[in-house]
Amino acid sequence: MIETIRFDMQGNISNQTIKDITSLLNQGEIVALPTETVYGLGADARNEQAVRKIFRAKGRPSDNPLIVHVASKEQLYSLVAETPAYLEKLIDNFSPGPITYVLKSARALAPSVSAGLDTVGVRIPNHPVALAILEYSNIPLAAPSANQSGRPSPTTADHVAEDLTGKIAAIVDGGPTEVGLESTVLDCTGEVPVILRPGKITLEQIISVVGKCEIYEKNTEKQPKSPGLKYVHYAPKIPLLLVAQEMLAKVVDENRRANKRISLIYHSKSSRDIVAEKHIWLGEDEASISHRLYAALRESEKTNADLIICELSSNIAKNRAIMDRLQRAAIKIIR
Ligand code: TXA
Ligand code: MG
Repeated sequence: MIETIRFDMQGNISNQTIKDITSLLNQGEIVALPTETVYGLGADARNEQAVRKIFRAKGRPSDNPLIVHVASKEQLYSLVAETPAYLEKLIDNFSPGPITYVLKSARALAPSVSAGLDTVGVRIPNHPVALAILEYSNIPLAAPSANQSGRPSPTTADHVAEDLTGKIAAIVDGGPTEVGLESTVLDCTGEVPVILRPGKITLEQIISVVGKCEIYEKNTEKQPKSPGLKYVHYAPKIPLLLVAQEMLAKVVDENRRANKRISLIYHSKSSRDIVAEKHIWLGEDEASISHRLYAALRESEKTNADLIICELSSNIAKNRAIMDRLQRAAIKIIR
């Protein structure tokens, strides 16, 4: 166990704190910090020992590569060996923002970052605290989500503390993250960009900027492009059922009759009247549902519920990023 220092940077950015964090990173320590998507667990991506600490702290399989965070387009270009013609347009439109570009690596970073692949995922996060650290330190930061491997990604500093206290040097509290789901991961190594992980930046938005984009389909290729795709992700400790809005009242009732205590995660206001042991409202629009989803899963775990039931309405069903996370977390979908 090591002592985990907590820095508070909600609201205002302290230059002294940025300096303290930079020294920790320069010493090869690992530090959790807020981005606009979820909290990341950052290390100097050029320092192999530091990068290995990330894998150890998270319990992350060593064949799952890390995303590298940089402050600028120039820095991003310095880390990659090949850039397709469409990349510049994507960066100009979407970065800083919740999108990661997978590109041929210039091999300027610690080998574990790419976990044996010849590519590297790079993104420019759109968060004042992350950008301040990246700009001041000038360190490219390898940073996966700051959760214990297999747990829902952290959207608050407290979520990080639950999973990683005693295992990392520091946690920087920048308040709840805005987007709430991880970045869109876009494979930019081919003629046509391919979405490996859906996120806030959508297929339609990418097509509208560069005229082409596809979604990676698991079965069309021999091996998963993104190693992360083969792992079970975002699994809450209590089983999760995803249930269509029309069946929700019935399924909750049946399970309560079978003596299950239910944490009901819902978004349509009409579902509020369904009797359950715990109610968590996600809000009605896609942005609010994304923002609150992981916190709702973690909050459900703190109740004495033995089943989480999450409402599946048309608002959620049409959102690829939300559906991707829920489908991975759910033991069963009833619709
Ligand atoms: O929003 C985010 O992306 C957050 C914040 C902290 O930036 N980070 C994040 O990292 O979600 P992580 O490690 O939890 O997820 C990274 C995903 C994994 O599925 C990984 O397999 C994939 O991106 N990935 C990373 N580098 C890759 C590469 N070179 N090729 C293919 N997939 C890659
Ligand atoms: Mg993750």
